[in-house]
Amino acid sequence: MNTVAFYDTKPYDREYFERAPDVSQLHCQFHEFRLTAETVASVNGAQAVCVFVNDRLDSACLEQLHLAGVRLVALRCAGFNNVDLGAANALGLAVTRVPAYSPHAVAEHTVGLLLTLNRKIHRAYNRVREHNFSLSGLVGFDLHGKTIGVVGTGKIGRITAQIFRGFDAEVIAFDPFPSPDWAVRHGVTYTDFAAMLARSDILTLHLPLTPETHHLLNERTLAQLKPGAHVINTSRGKLIETGALIARLKSGALGGVALDVYEEEEGIFFEDHSDAVLQDDELNLLLSFPNVLITAHQAFLTREALGEIARVTVGNLLRADSGNFLDGTLLTSPRHNCE
Ligand code: NAI
Repeated sequence: MNTVAFYDTKPYDREYFERAPDVSQLHCQFHEFRLTAETVASVNGAQAVCVFVNDRLDSACLEQLHLAGVRLVALRCAGFNNVDLGAANALGLAVTRVPAYSPHAVAEHTVGLLLTLNRKIHRAYNRVREHNFSLSGLVGFDLHGKTIGVVGTGKIGRITAQIFRGFDAEVIAFDPFPSPDWAVRHGVTYTDFAAMLARSDILTLHLPLTPETHHLLNERTLAQLKPGAHVINTSRGKLIETGALIARLKSGALGGVALDVYEEEEGIFFEDHSDAVLQDDELNLLLSFPNVLITAHQAFLTREALGEIARVTVGNLLRADSGNFLDGTLLTSPRHNCE
């Protein structure tokens, strides 16, 4: 039987993993803390670890995992920027992910964030609960006719673009690997990044975090946005330079910002800090702005997505010995799977 150590787990992870098909063939150890080089001793004889977006699998952590006898790192998410794949490859460690558990979940949350921010539904909800039925300060704008820039037209970006087309918005897109047939079918126009910044009323990010895309939105690129533009990020926090974003918000250059991810979310998001003084001053500042809406990395959190994450991840954990992983899930070229 394969022993698997799960990290950064919450009750909902456990619930969906415990009902995944064939999970009874695995011995699962659920940990609430994150996996890092400092906590790696807790693998305790496991042959595989199952991790999430804020576990930190740098080379030091991976070397210790390898020494402890771990042969598979199973990411229960799509993004893999938190794993040093070069180091995993060199060690012959298999790394798998769940490439597409529900792109609809993330796309729908993206649209939900924009509607909430623009129509100020979160503020209206609080007002009405206090019997304040005034409408002052709640003026929004129609999405119909606006120009929406979608950066990254992979699985999530394409669905997001299609939903926005349903509002009769003009959707422009940028991706170094465009999907021209899809764009024609859905009335989406590809453009270059600079033109997208200049034209978009709303800019939404759907691309991976890599060394090239780190701080894609920075002082220079944010300054190229149309005055009053709205920015949505449901991809990865480090795509945006937070200090530059705050400066643009303070100057009034940006109309609004909706974030499901934050540059320094590690150690903050997914936890209840309501009894503590939050030490992150940039996050405190963002939370104080009336035109900023933040959710704590919950875009993926639907029943469908959790079920699919558990199904695919358990499928791969059961294949650890054979090395015959599910199609499209393997990120490395492991040498020692069959040991
Ligand atoms: P995908 O791999 O299907 O698509 C990513 C697209 O980005 C590709 O078409 C790629 O060519 C494009 N791209 C790469 N570099 C680019 C650049 N410099 N400029 C513009 N486009 C670029 O990925 P998918 O499934 O659509 O996911 C996108 C991102 O969403 C993931 O990388 C992940 O970080 C994030 N995500 C967030 C979740 C959440 O709960 N907030 C959940 C799942 C994913």
